[in-house]
Amino acid sequence: MAKKIVTDLNVEGKKVIVRVDFNVPHKGDVITDDNRIQAALPTIKYLADHNARVILLSHLGKVDHKDPEKCEADKKKNDMAPVAKRLAELVPEHKVVFVNATRGKELEDAVSALEDGDILLMQNTRYEKGESKNDPELGAYWASLGDLYVSDAFGSVHRAHASTVGIPSHLPSAVGFLIEKELKYLGQALDDPKRPFVAVLGGAKVSDKIAVIDNLLKIADKVIVGGGMAYTFFKAKGYGVGTSLLEEDKVEIAKEFMAKGGDKLVLPVDTVVANAFDDPTDVKTVACNEIPDGYMGLDIGPKTVELFTKELAGAKTVFWNGPMGVFEKEQFATGTIGVCKAIAELDDCMSVIGGGDSASAAKNLGYADKFTHISTGGGASLEYMEGKELPGIAIIEEK
Ligand code: 3PG
Repeated sequence: MAKKIVTDLNVEGKKVIVRVDFNVPHKGDVITDDNRIQAALPTIKYLADHNARVILLSHLGKVDHKDPEKCEADKKKNDMAPVAKRLAELVPEHKVVFVNATRGKELEDAVSALEDGDILLMQNTRYEKGESKNDPELGAYWASLGDLYVSDAFGSVHRAHASTVGIPSHLPSAVGFLIEKELKYLGQALDDPKRPFVAVLGGAKVSDKIAVIDNLLKIADKVIVGGGMAYTFFKAKGYGVGTSLLEEDKVEIAKEFMAKGGDKLVLPVDTVVANAFDDPTDVKTVACNEIPDGYMGLDIGPKTVELFTKELAGAKTVFWNGPMGVFEKEQFATGTIGVCKAIAELDDCMSVIGGGDSASAAKNLGYADKFTHISTGGGASLEYMEGKELPGIAIIEEK
């Protein structure tokens, strides 16, 4: 059954609580990437243009509530005020009010003072200790501020928090346009992919990707594995991995995946190794079964880029999550660039990037517009592709 979307609600004159994911990269007061704010604008503008009184809630960063000193420092670092400023610049046609409170009179008065078409952004939801614990009192309190709830925080729907799950258990609800779009593309890849469907998985740890590799081995036609986690697979093959990233306790599961996957699972054949992570004096490309002692693998090699490009040729659906190497360092970015380029240049292919580092890589390389969809949720898109139910979506009413 399909979820209600914001256009299914009568929002005129109503106080609509919208959970957005404004967890944006920032340095001090400067938002360094406003993509997630931009991605939520269609829903925010729709609501304000239809005379709703829009109450936006989001988290920003993490707040440690165990250590009082750390808590204060985290709150200072993750103040939502700069986000409100950027939002106001992006919707000049509407009044944007920032409330530096997460409960109490100041917040309640500001909500009461809203007029049709106004937008209010509350301070960071994680200022409240009960947010991450889905404290029922907090969810009920925030719900009491509005008449309707719209979830458009795709990046946070894998979290069962007060603002993602607590509030909608008290109010009529719907998803916004961003979640509608995310579900369309990720859903198509997962449930009805045009074939061949090739999944490309990278990143540091096998442990983060076990469930997604497992599920994609059932669904995709090929599962390409690169990045730091490949070295655990090499170990499982009996190769020496030098000082490369290795999860000893995941070697058995890597063996199982290789046995289960057979030809479907595609691993690197060569790797770029260095004698140190910082300021290496020796960097070279070697076959995957020839990593010298004392050297660590930091990228896939050119033969692997060629192999992965060949495996990707003709794909009609691609899901990519995770870089192929330490792409933040120019000398180890070649593999990620090569794979990104290979996917970007595919014709007639639905290509989806599952957020996080691969999304940054595609953007930094200038390929972002060559992909069909770049998800705004790293963790959320992975959990979706694992086939898990996402609590922040499950709670939303069906049509
Ligand atoms: C993200 O950036 O992945 C989301 O905003 C969720 O953030 P979290 O991992 O801190 O819950």
